[in-house]
Amino acid sequence: MTSEEGLFVTFEGIDGSGKSTQARLLAEALIAAGHDPLLTREPGGSPGAEEIRRLLVEGPPERWSAETEILLFTAARRDHLEKTIAPALAAGKIVISDRFVDSTRVYQGAVRGALRAMVDELHCRMIGREADITLVIDMQADAALSRGLARRSGEDRFEDFGGAFQQRLRQGFLDLAAEFPARCHVVEGARPVQDVARQVWSILERSA
Ligand code: ADP
Ligand code: TYD
Repeated sequence: MTSEEGLFVTFEGIDGSGKSTQARLLAEALIAAGHDPLLTREPGGSPGAEEIRRLLVEGPPERWSAETEILLFTAARRDHLEKTIAPALAAGKIVISDRFVDSTRVYQGAVRGALRAMVDELHCRMIGREADITLVIDMQADAALSRGLARRSGEDRFEDFGGAFQQRLRQGFLDLAAEFPARCHVVEGARPVQDVARQVWSILERSA
């Protein structure tokens, strides 16, 4: 399943859709199959990016404009790429990231302002790497929101934008999957955890 350059797998979708759960299960399944995957997340995934994460996910929704968020998420991603993702891929590992640039394309680029061109331009100049395989976990926004808020993580700044926002995000991720059909796979998230995990595994077997 690994090429010389490793394999970069990302999970995307709205808050509470089950990305973190599925990313962890995929890492466990890969370990059981004899691989040595690296499981990471955004915003975060390196010490510097985890510091930036706190600025982004805590506090009131109006704390940052969409433009400032793009800069902060891209700064965090650059550090994540330099310190965590690129070295692991260079070592031939499978890297699984819970969110990556598609989240910026949808949250900041499509939903919170017509800033998609700016997201893509910054991504091209500062990051320059797309995932090889992207699993878009899809489900109804209100059900995902109540799953996410039930966690009471204290990191609910984006959940606090509300249900209509989450509904637009859901559509944004589906549009994005249609835009990048070669790497994006839409997975129905409102099913038992193990059923979703089986589908994720079979997509990986087919695509890697
Ligand atoms: P995300 O990373 O997309 O925000 P999580 O994986 O953290 O989502 O899941 C959000 C909540 O929903 C957690 O409490 C998790 O245990 C639960 N959950 C995840 N997947 C499922 C599922 N398929 N069915 C029911 N509950 C789930
Ligand atoms: P995350 O911890 O993945 O939240 P959740 O587990 O609830 O899905 O991400 C924190 C929030 O940051 C989430 O609401 C989505 C948002 N986000 C963006 O707006 N843009 C981005 O580029 C990324 C990576 C995340």
